[in-house]
Amino acid sequence: LNPEKKYRPYLHFVPKKNWMNDPNGLIYFKGEYHLFFQYNPNDSKWGPMHWGHAVSTDLITWTELPIALYPDEHGTIFSGSAVVDWNNTTGFFPDEPGIVAIFTHHFDNGVDNPPKQSQSLAYSHDNGRTWIKYGDNPVLEHDRKIDFRDPKVFWHKNTDKWIMVLATGQTVSIYSSVNLINWHFESEFGTDVGSHDGVWECPDLFELAVDNTNESKWMLIVSIGDNLHLDQGSRTQYFIGSFDGSRFHVEHETIKWLDYGKDNYAGVSFSDIPTTDGRRIYLGWMSNWRYANEVPTHGWRSEMTVPRELTLCKYDNSYYVVQQPVKELDQYFTTREKVINKQVSKEVRYAFDELYGMITLVLENQGATKYRLDIHHTESNVTSVIIDMEESVLTLDRSRSGVTSFSDNFSLHQKLPLLQTEQIELNILIDSSSIEIFVNGGELALTSLVYPDKTCKEISLHTFNGDVIIKEGYFSKPIS
Ligand code: FRU
Repeated sequence: LNPEKKYRPYLHFVPKKNWMNDPNGLIYFKGEYHLFFQYNPNDSKWGPMHWGHAVSTDLITWTELPIALYPDEHGTIFSGSAVVDWNNTTGFFPDEPGIVAIFTHHFDNGVDNPPKQSQSLAYSHDNGRTWIKYGDNPVLEHDRKIDFRDPKVFWHKNTDKWIMVLATGQTVSIYSSVNLINWHFESEFGTDVGSHDGVWECPDLFELAVDNTNESKWMLIVSIGDNLHLDQGSRTQYFIGSFDGSRFHVEHETIKWLDYGKDNYAGVSFSDIPTTDGRRIYLGWMSNWRYANEVPTHGWRSEMTVPRELTLCKYDNSYYVVQQPVKELDQYFTTREKVINKQVSKEVRYAFDELYGMITLVLENQGATKYRLDIHHTESNVTSVIIDMEESVLTLDRSRSGVTSFSDNFSLHQKLPLLQTEQIELNILIDSSSIEIFVNGGELALTSLVYPDKTCKEISLHTFNGDVIIKEGYFSKPIS
Protein backbone atom coordinates (compact mmCIF):
# COMPACT_ATOMS: atom_id res chain seq x y z
CA LEU A 1 0.00 0.00 0.00
CA ASN A 2 1.16 3.53 -0.83
CA PRO A 3 2.09 4.95 2.61
CA GLU A 4 0.50 8.29 1.66
CA LYS A 5 -2.88 6.51 1.42
CA LYS A 6 -2.74 5.16 4.94
CA TYR A 7 -5.11 7.01 7.30
CA ARG A 8 -6.44 9.20 4.46
CA PRO A 9 -10.08 9.90 5.27
CA TYR A 10 -13.03 9.24 2.95
CA LEU A 11 -15.43 11.86 4.31
CA HIS A 12 -13.12 14.60 5.55
CA PHE A 13 -11.10 17.17 3.68
CA VAL A 14 -7.32 16.76 3.48
CA PRO A 15 -4.98 18.39 0.97
CA LYS A 16 -3.31 16.03 -1.51
CA LYS A 17 0.08 16.78 -0.04
CA ASN A 18 1.79 18.60 2.79
CA TRP A 19 0.73 20.50 5.87
CA MET A 20 -2.66 22.10 6.65
CA ASN A 21 -4.05 23.84 9.74
CA ASP A 22 -6.94 26.27 10.28
CA PRO A 23 -9.89 26.59 7.91
CA ASN A 24 -9.87 30.12 6.42
CA GLY A 25 -12.20 32.23 4.29
CA LEU A 26 -15.14 29.80 4.51
CA ILE A 27 -17.74 31.18 2.14
CA TYR A 28 -20.60 30.22 -0.16
CA PHE A 29 -20.75 32.00 -3.52
CA LYS A 30 -22.49 31.15 -6.80
CA GLY A 31 -23.28 27.54 -5.97
CA GLU A 32 -19.90 26.67 -4.47
CA TYR A 33 -18.64 26.31 -0.93
CA HIS A 34 -15.06 27.54 -0.63
CA LEU A 35 -12.65 26.17 1.91
CA PHE A 36 -9.37 28.03 2.15
CA PHE A 37 -6.89 26.78 4.69
CA GLN A 38 -3.55 27.44 6.34
CA TYR A 39 -1.13 25.59 4.10
CA ASN A 40 2.58 24.92 3.83
CA PRO A 41 3.19 23.65 0.27
CA ASN A 42 6.82 22.73 1.00
CA ASP A 43 6.57 20.32 3.89
CA SER A 44 4.23 18.17 5.94
CA LYS A 45 5.06 20.27 9.01
CA TRP A 46 3.95 23.82 9.82
CA GLY A 47 6.04 26.47 8.03
CA PRO A 48 5.60 29.60 5.89
CA MET A 49 1.86 29.95 5.58
CA HIS A 50 -0.14 30.25 2.35
CA TRP A 51 -3.88 29.94 1.77
CA GLY A 52 -4.68 26.62 0.14
CA HIS A 53 -8.05 26.33 -1.60
CA ALA A 54 -10.74 23.73 -2.22
CA VAL A 55 -14.34 23.92 -3.46
CA SER A 56 -17.39 21.74 -3.03
CA THR A 57 -21.04 21.76 -4.01
CA ASP A 58 -22.15 19.56 -1.10
CA LEU A 59 -19.66 20.30 1.73
CA ILE A 60 -18.44 16.68 1.78
CA THR A 61 -16.63 16.03 -1.52
CA TRP A 62 -13.97 18.69 -2.13
CA THR A 63 -11.87 19.51 -5.17
CA GLU A 64 -8.51 21.00 -4.34
CA LEU A 65 -7.57 24.03 -6.46
CA PRO A 66 -4.23 25.86 -6.83
CA ILE A 67 -2.95 27.92 -3.90
CA ALA A 68 -4.99 31.12 -3.49
CA LEU A 69 -2.67 33.42 -1.52
CA TYR A 70 1.14 33.42 -1.44
CA PRO A 71 3.43 35.23 1.01
CA ASP A 72 4.59 38.69 -0.16
CA GLU A 73 6.66 41.64 1.06
CA HIS A 74 4.31 42.10 4.06
CA GLY A 75 4.82 38.55 5.29
CA THR A 76 3.27 35.09 5.23
CA ILE A 77 -0.50 34.60 5.11
CA PHE A 78 -2.10 33.68 8.44
CA SER A 79 -5.75 32.94 9.17
CA GLY A 80 -8.68 35.11 8.15
CA SER A 81 -12.09 35.17 6.55
CA ALA A 82 -13.91 36.07 3.33
CA VAL A 83 -17.07 37.99 2.49
CA VAL A 84 -19.04 38.76 -0.66
CA ASP A 85 -19.05 42.52 -1.23
CA TRP A 86 -22.61 42.57 -2.64
CA ASN A 87 -22.89 46.38 -2.71
CA ASN A 88 -19.36 47.22 -3.84
CA THR A 89 -18.53 48.98 -0.58
CA THR A 90 -14.83 48.54 -1.40
CA GLY A 91 -14.97 49.85 -4.96
CA PHE A 92 -13.22 46.63 -6.09
CA PHE A 93 -16.30 45.41 -7.97
CA PRO A 94 -17.63 48.01 -10.42
CA ASP A 95 -19.19 45.32 -12.65
CA GLU A 96 -20.40 42.48 -10.47
CA PRO A 97 -20.06 41.36 -6.86
CA GLY A 98 -17.07 39.26 -5.86
CA ILE A 99 -15.21 37.89 -2.87
CA VAL A 100 -12.88 39.81 -0.54
CA ALA A 101 -10.46 37.93 1.71
CA ILE A 102 -9.46 39.62 4.98
CA PHE A 103 -6.38 37.92 6.43
CA THR A 104 -3.39 38.42 8.71
CA HIS A 105 0.00 39.24 7.29
CA HIS A 106 2.63 37.76 9.60
CA PHE A 107 6.03 39.38 9.18
CA ASP A 108 8.96 37.73 10.90
CA ASN A 109 11.91 40.06 10.94
CA GLY A 110 14.46 37.67 12.40
CA VAL A 111 15.32 36.58 15.91
CA ASP A 112 15.59 39.84 17.83
CA ASN A 113 12.35 41.55 16.87
CA PRO A 114 8.95 40.10 17.66
CA PRO A 115 6.97 39.29 14.51
CA LYS A 116 4.54 41.92 13.27
CA GLN A 117 0.92 40.98 12.58
CA SER A 118 -1.45 43.18 10.57
CA GLN A 119 -4.67 42.74 8.59
CA SER A 120 -4.75 42.88 4.79
CA LEU A 121 -7.15 42.45 1.88
CA ALA A 122 -7.19 40.51 -1.38
CA TYR A 123 -10.08 40.27 -3.83
CA SER A 124 -11.20 38.01 -6.63
CA HIS A 125 -13.25 38.65 -9.78
CA ASP A 126 -13.40 35.00 -10.80
CA ASN A 127 -14.99 33.09 -7.90
CA GLY A 128 -11.82 32.73 -5.89
CA ARG A 129 -9.68 31.27 -8.71
CA THR A 130 -7.26 34.20 -8.89
CA TRP A 131 -6.62 36.98 -6.40
CA ILE A 132 -5.47 40.58 -6.44
CA LYS A 133 -3.81 41.86 -3.30
CA TYR A 134 -5.10 45.31 -2.31
CA GLY A 135 -2.47 47.92 -3.23
CA ASP A 136 -2.43 49.66 0.13
CA ASN A 137 -2.03 46.68 2.48
CA PRO A 138 -2.09 46.35 5.42
CA VAL A 139 -5.41 47.97 6.30
CA LEU A 140 -5.21 47.46 10.08
CA GLU A 141 -2.12 47.54 12.29
CA HIS A 142 -1.35 48.03 15.96
CA ASP A 143 1.84 49.54 17.28
CA ARG A 144 1.92 47.57 20.55
CA LYS A 145 -0.02 44.33 20.17
CA ILE A 146 2.08 41.38 19.05
CA ASP A 147 -0.79 38.89 18.88
CA PHE A 148 -3.08 40.70 16.47
CA ARG A 149 -4.60 38.22 14.08
CA ASP A 150 -7.30 36.02 12.57
CA PRO A 151 -9.89 38.60 11.39
CA LYS A 152 -13.44 37.27 10.95
CA VAL A 153 -15.66 39.77 9.17
CA PHE A 154 -19.43 39.93 8.64
CA TRP A 155 -21.99 42.47 7.49
CA HIS A 156 -24.04 43.83 10.42
CA LYS A 157 -27.47 44.76 9.05
CA ASN A 158 -28.65 46.93 11.97
CA THR A 159 -25.73 49.35 11.76
CA ASP A 160 -25.01 48.97 8.03
CA LYS A 161 -21.37 48.24 8.74
CA TRP A 162 -18.78 45.53 8.40
CA ILE A 163 -17.76 44.13 11.78
CA MET A 164 -14.41 42.45 12.40
CA VAL A 165 -13.64 40.28 15.40
CA LEU A 166 -9.91 39.92 15.92
CA ALA A 167 -7.78 37.85 18.32
CA THR A 168 -5.69 40.27 20.36
CA GLY A 169 -3.68 38.38 22.96
CA GLN A 170 -6.13 37.00 25.48
CA THR A 171 -9.05 39.13 24.33
CA VAL A 172 -11.15 39.67 21.23
CA SER A 173 -11.17 43.18 19.76
CA ILE A 174 -14.11 44.39 17.70
CA TYR A 175 -13.64 46.84 14.81
CA SER A 176 -16.11 48.32 12.32
CA SER A 177 -15.81 49.65 8.78
CA VAL A 178 -18.02 50.90 5.97
CA ASN A 179 -15.68 49.76 3.19
CA LEU A 180 -13.41 46.99 4.60
CA ILE A 181 -10.49 49.42 4.16
CA ASN A 182 -10.78 51.94 7.03
CA TRP A 183 -11.33 50.28 10.39
CA HIS A 184 -12.49 51.84 13.69
CA PHE A 185 -11.91 50.27 17.07
CA GLU A 186 -15.22 49.57 18.86
CA SER A 187 -14.51 47.49 21.95
CA GLU A 188 -12.46 44.77 23.56
CA PHE A 189 -14.01 41.67 25.09
CA GLY A 190 -12.80 38.99 27.47
CA THR A 191 -10.37 40.48 29.98
CA ASP A 192 -12.35 39.07 32.91
CA VAL A 193 -14.40 36.17 31.51
CA GLY A 194 -13.74 32.83 29.88
CA SER A 195 -10.71 30.60 29.84
CA HIS A 196 -7.34 32.32 29.70
CA ASP A 197 -5.36 29.10 29.60
CA GLY A 198 -3.67 30.15 26.37
CA VAL A 199 -3.49 32.80 23.66
CA TRP A 200 -6.87 33.56 22.06
CA GLU A 201 -7.13 32.74 18.36
CA CYS A 202 -9.63 32.52 15.50
CA PRO A 203 -12.73 34.27 16.89
CA ASP A 204 -16.12 34.15 15.16
CA LEU A 205 -19.30 36.06 16.04
CA PHE A 206 -22.82 35.45 14.70
CA GLU A 207 -26.48 35.38 15.64
CA LEU A 208 -28.32 32.09 16.13
CA ALA A 209 -31.99 31.30 16.69
CA VAL A 210 -32.81 29.39 19.88
CA ASP A 211 -34.63 26.10 19.08
CA ASN A 212 -38.37 26.09 19.83
CA THR A 213 -38.52 29.77 20.82
CA ASN A 214 -38.77 33.15 19.09
CA GLU A 215 -35.51 34.18 20.70
CA SER A 216 -32.09 34.57 19.18
CA LYS A 217 -28.69 35.05 20.79
CA TRP A 218 -25.21 35.97 19.64
CA MET A 219 -22.49 33.37 19.87
CA LEU A 220 -18.79 34.20 20.07
CA ILE A 221 -16.36 31.36 19.38
CA VAL A 222 -12.77 31.66 20.61
CA SER A 223 -10.02 29.09 20.17
CA ILE A 224 -7.44 28.84 22.95
CA GLY A 225 -3.85 27.98 22.15
CA ASP A 226 -1.88 25.14 23.66
CA ASN A 227 -1.09 25.46 27.37
CA LEU A 228 1.74 23.04 28.11
CA HIS A 229 0.70 22.79 31.76
CA LEU A 230 -2.72 21.37 30.90
CA ASP A 231 -3.55 18.02 29.28
CA GLN A 232 -6.11 19.35 26.82
CA GLY A 233 -3.69 21.14 24.53
CA SER A 234 -5.44 23.61 22.24
CA ARG A 235 -9.26 23.79 22.46
CA THR A 236 -12.26 25.98 21.74
CA GLN A 237 -14.60 27.88 24.04
CA TYR A 238 -17.75 29.82 23.23
CA PHE A 239 -19.77 32.62 24.79
CA ILE A 240 -23.51 33.33 24.50
CA GLY A 241 -24.79 36.87 24.75
CA SER A 242 -25.87 39.89 22.77
CA PHE A 243 -24.20 42.20 20.27
CA ASP A 244 -25.28 45.81 19.70
CA GLY A 245 -23.05 46.62 16.74
CA SER A 246 -20.23 47.78 18.98
CA ARG A 247 -19.97 45.55 22.06
CA PHE A 248 -20.50 41.90 22.83
CA HIS A 249 -22.23 41.37 26.22
CA VAL A 250 -21.79 37.90 27.67
CA GLU A 251 -24.67 36.39 29.68
CA HIS A 252 -22.91 33.73 31.74
CA GLU A 253 -19.88 33.25 33.93
CA THR A 254 -19.22 29.56 33.36
CA ILE A 255 -16.81 28.45 30.67
CA LYS A 256 -18.51 26.69 27.77
CA TRP A 257 -16.51 24.28 25.61
CA LEU A 258 -17.49 23.70 22.04
CA ASP A 259 -16.08 20.19 21.94
CA TYR A 260 -14.83 17.82 24.63
CA GLY A 261 -12.45 15.98 22.33
CA LYS A 262 -8.91 17.05 21.65
CA ASP A 263 -9.16 17.41 17.92
CA ASN A 264 -11.38 20.31 16.98
CA TYR A 265 -9.55 23.63 16.83
CA ALA A 266 -9.66 27.00 15.07
CA GLY A 267 -13.17 26.32 13.76
CA VAL A 268 -15.22 29.12 12.20
CA SER A 269 -18.45 29.40 10.24
CA PHE A 270 -19.28 29.94 6.56
CA SER A 271 -20.11 33.42 5.35
CA ASP A 272 -22.90 34.26 2.89
CA ILE A 273 -24.99 31.11 3.23
CA PRO A 274 -28.18 32.17 1.37
CA THR A 275 -31.08 33.22 3.62
CA THR A 276 -33.26 30.62 1.85
CA ASP A 277 -30.95 28.01 3.39
CA GLY A 278 -30.48 29.86 6.66
CA ARG A 279 -28.06 27.44 8.28
CA ARG A 280 -24.97 28.39 10.30
CA ILE A 281 -22.37 25.89 9.09
CA TYR A 282 -19.11 25.43 10.90
CA LEU A 283 -16.02 23.28 10.60
CA GLY A 284 -12.77 23.00 12.53
CA TRP A 285 -9.24 21.81 12.06
CA MET A 286 -9.25 18.22 13.34
CA SER A 287 -6.01 18.28 15.28
CA ASN A 288 -4.31 19.70 18.34
CA TRP A 289 -1.20 21.88 18.50
CA ARG A 290 0.18 19.54 21.17
CA TYR A 291 0.93 16.83 18.59
CA ALA A 292 -0.29 18.09 15.18
CA ASN A 293 3.23 18.14 13.71
CA GLU A 294 3.90 14.57 14.86
CA VAL A 295 0.85 12.56 13.80
CA PRO A 296 1.92 9.43 11.85
CA THR A 297 0.64 10.30 8.37
CA HIS A 298 2.97 10.33 5.36
CA GLY A 299 3.29 13.18 2.86
CA TRP A 300 0.28 15.06 4.29
CA ARG A 301 -0.79 16.22 7.73
CA SER A 302 -4.13 17.23 9.21
CA GLU A 303 -7.75 16.99 8.17
CA MET A 304 -10.87 19.06 8.81
CA THR A 305 -13.84 17.99 10.96
CA VAL A 306 -17.05 17.14 9.19
CA PRO A 307 -18.98 20.38 8.50
CA ARG A 308 -21.59 20.84 11.22
CA GLU A 309 -24.81 22.78 11.46
CA LEU A 310 -24.94 24.88 14.64
CA THR A 311 -28.14 25.73 16.52
CA LEU A 312 -28.86 26.84 20.09
CA CYS A 313 -30.94 25.11 22.72
CA LYS A 314 -32.06 26.28 26.13
CA TYR A 315 -31.68 23.87 29.04
CA ASP A 316 -32.13 24.78 32.73
CA ASN A 317 -32.07 28.47 31.81
CA SER A 318 -28.70 28.19 30.09
CA TYR A 319 -28.01 28.20 26.37
CA TYR A 320 -25.98 25.49 24.70
CA VAL A 321 -24.77 25.13 21.19
CA VAL A 322 -26.06 22.04 19.38
CA GLN A 323 -23.98 20.68 16.51
CA GLN A 324 -24.73 17.99 13.98
CA PRO A 325 -23.07 16.87 10.76
CA VAL A 326 -24.66 18.72 7.84
CA LYS A 327 -27.56 16.84 6.24
CA GLU A 328 -25.58 16.51 2.98
CA LEU A 329 -23.61 13.73 4.69
CA ASP A 330 -26.70 11.47 4.63
CA GLN A 331 -26.37 11.03 0.86
CA TYR A 332 -23.15 9.11 1.45
CA PHE A 333 -24.85 6.30 3.38
CA THR A 334 -27.75 3.99 3.34
CA THR A 335 -28.90 3.07 6.82
CA ARG A 336 -29.69 -0.42 7.91
CA GLU A 337 -31.83 -0.90 10.93
CA LYS A 338 -30.01 -3.36 13.05
CA VAL A 339 -31.51 -3.59 16.49
CA ILE A 340 -34.69 -2.54 18.24
CA ASN A 341 -35.28 -3.03 21.98
CA LYS A 342 -32.38 -5.36 22.54
CA GLN A 343 -31.67 -6.09 26.20
CA VAL A 344 -27.95 -6.39 26.82
CA SER A 345 -26.66 -8.27 29.85
CA LYS A 346 -22.88 -8.24 29.92
CA GLU A 347 -22.03 -8.21 26.21
CA VAL A 348 -23.25 -8.03 22.62
CA ARG A 349 -21.27 -7.77 19.34
CA TYR A 350 -22.17 -6.53 15.87
CA ALA A 351 -20.11 -6.73 12.73
CA PHE A 352 -19.54 -3.33 11.14
CA ASP A 353 -16.98 -4.01 8.48
CA GLU A 354 -17.07 -0.66 6.70
CA LEU A 355 -14.46 1.84 5.54
CA TYR A 356 -16.44 4.69 7.05
CA GLY A 357 -19.87 5.25 8.49
CA MET A 358 -22.27 6.42 11.12
CA ILE A 359 -23.44 4.36 14.06
CA THR A 360 -26.54 5.55 15.90
CA LEU A 361 -27.46 4.03 19.26
CA VAL A 362 -30.24 4.98 21.63
CA LEU A 363 -29.27 3.40 24.94
CA GLU A 364 -31.45 3.12 28.03
CA ASN A 365 -29.85 2.28 31.31
CA GLN A 366 -31.39 -0.59 33.31
CA GLY A 367 -29.35 -0.51 36.48
CA ALA A 368 -25.84 -0.67 35.01
CA THR A 369 -23.28 1.46 36.82
CA LYS A 370 -21.19 1.68 33.69
CA TYR A 371 -21.14 0.49 30.10
CA ARG A 372 -18.55 0.49 27.38
CA LEU A 373 -18.84 0.60 23.64
CA ASP A 374 -15.78 -0.83 21.92
CA ILE A 375 -15.01 0.08 18.33
CA HIS A 376 -12.81 -2.78 17.10
CA HIS A 377 -10.73 -1.49 14.21
CA THR A 378 -8.70 -4.72 14.16
CA GLU A 379 -8.17 -7.57 16.65
CA SER A 380 -5.86 -5.37 18.70
CA ASN A 381 -6.80 -1.78 17.77
CA VAL A 382 -9.80 -0.81 19.89
CA THR A 383 -11.23 2.62 20.70
CA SER A 384 -13.55 2.63 23.72
CA VAL A 385 -16.41 4.91 24.68
CA ILE A 386 -17.23 4.48 28.37
CA ILE A 387 -20.39 5.81 30.02
CA ASP A 388 -20.08 6.08 33.79
CA MET A 389 -23.47 6.57 35.52
CA GLU A 390 -22.04 7.50 38.89
CA GLU A 391 -19.81 10.22 37.53
CA SER A 392 -22.18 11.19 34.66
CA VAL A 393 -19.22 11.22 32.33
CA LEU A 394 -18.55 9.85 28.85
CA THR A 395 -14.89 8.95 28.34
CA LEU A 396 -13.11 8.26 25.09
CA ASP A 397 -10.13 5.97 25.51
CA ARG A 398 -7.87 5.84 22.45
CA SER A 399 -4.85 4.40 24.25
CA ARG A 400 -5.24 1.08 22.33
CA SER A 401 -6.66 2.59 19.13
CA GLY A 402 -3.55 2.09 16.97
CA VAL A 403 -0.40 4.20 16.68
CA THR A 404 -0.16 6.48 19.72
CA SER A 405 3.55 6.60 20.50
CA PHE A 406 4.26 9.89 18.67
CA SER A 407 2.98 11.84 21.72
CA ASP A 408 2.65 11.04 25.44
CA ASN A 409 -0.43 13.20 25.46
CA PHE A 410 -2.33 11.36 22.73
CA SER A 411 -3.35 8.38 24.91
CA LEU A 412 -4.80 10.42 27.77
CA HIS A 413 -8.54 10.01 28.29
CA GLN A 414 -10.94 12.58 26.88
CA LYS A 415 -13.95 13.23 29.09
CA LEU A 416 -17.33 14.74 28.41
CA PRO A 417 -19.72 15.61 31.29
CA LEU A 418 -23.22 14.26 30.53
CA LEU A 419 -26.33 16.29 31.33
CA GLN A 420 -28.26 13.07 32.14
CA THR A 421 -27.58 9.35 31.85
CA GLU A 422 -30.94 7.49 31.90
CA GLN A 423 -31.23 7.49 28.11
CA ILE A 424 -28.46 8.53 25.78
CA GLU A 425 -28.38 8.86 22.04
CA LEU A 426 -24.97 8.50 20.44
CA ASN A 427 -24.20 9.34 16.82
CA ILE A 428 -20.70 8.22 16.01
CA LEU A 429 -19.08 9.14 12.72
CA ILE A 430 -16.16 6.85 11.97
CA ASP A 431 -13.59 7.51 9.26
CA SER A 432 -10.10 6.09 8.60
CA SER A 433 -8.44 8.27 11.22
CA SER A 434 -11.17 9.97 13.23
CA ILE A 435 -14.14 9.44 15.49
CA GLU A 436 -16.70 12.21 15.99
CA ILE A 437 -19.26 11.58 18.72
CA PHE A 438 -22.48 13.60 18.92
CA VAL A 439 -24.47 13.05 22.13
CA ASN A 440 -28.27 13.51 22.27
CA GLY A 441 -28.68 15.03 18.86
CA GLY A 442 -25.51 17.09 19.17
CA GLU A 443 -25.99 18.73 22.61
CA LEU A 444 -22.42 17.70 23.30
CA ALA A 445 -19.64 16.65 20.96
CA LEU A 446 -16.31 14.88 21.21
CA THR A 447 -13.96 14.86 18.22
CA SER A 448 -10.92 12.64 18.25
CA LEU A 449 -8.24 11.43 15.88
CA VAL A 450 -7.20 7.76 15.87
CA TYR A 451 -4.56 5.94 13.84
CA PRO A 452 -5.69 2.29 13.62
CA ASP A 453 -4.50 -0.18 10.99
CA LYS A 454 -8.03 -0.44 9.62
CA THR A 455 -11.19 1.63 10.06
CA CYS A 456 -13.66 -0.61 11.85
CA LYS A 457 -14.72 -4.23 11.70
CA GLU A 458 -16.91 -4.77 14.71
CA ILE A 459 -18.47 -2.98 17.62
CA SER A 460 -19.33 -4.45 21.00
CA LEU A 461 -21.25 -3.23 24.02
CA HIS A 462 -20.28 -4.33 27.55
CA THR A 463 -22.38 -3.60 30.61
CA PHE A 464 -21.34 -3.60 34.26
CA ASN A 465 -23.53 -4.44 37.31
CA GLY A 466 -26.79 -4.21 35.40
CA ASP A 467 -28.34 -4.14 31.94
CA VAL A 468 -28.64 -1.69 29.10
CA ILE A 469 -31.36 -1.71 26.46
CA ILE A 470 -30.45 -0.77 22.92
CA LYS A 471 -33.76 0.94 22.14
CA GLU A 472 -32.63 1.61 18.60
CA GLY A 473 -29.43 0.83 16.78
CA TYR A 474 -28.62 1.82 13.21
CA PHE A 475 -25.48 1.13 11.22
CA SER A 476 -24.79 2.89 7.99
CA LYS A 477 -23.44 1.40 4.76
CA PRO A 478 -21.44 3.55 2.36
CA ILE A 479 -23.05 4.19 -1.02
CA SER A 480 -20.57 2.66 -3.47
C1 FRU B 1 -4.39 28.96 14.97
C2 FRU B 1 -3.26 29.82 14.43
C3 FRU B 1 -3.77 31.20 14.10
C4 FRU B 1 -2.79 31.67 13.05
C5 FRU B 1 -2.49 30.40 12.30
C6 FRU B 1 -1.08 30.29 11.79
O1 FRU B 1 -4.19 27.59 14.83
O2 FRU B 1 -2.19 29.83 15.36
O3 FRU B 1 -3.86 32.05 15.22
O4 FRU B 1 -3.33 32.66 12.25
O5 FRU B 1 -2.77 29.33 13.19
O6 FRU B 1 -0.92 29.18 10.97
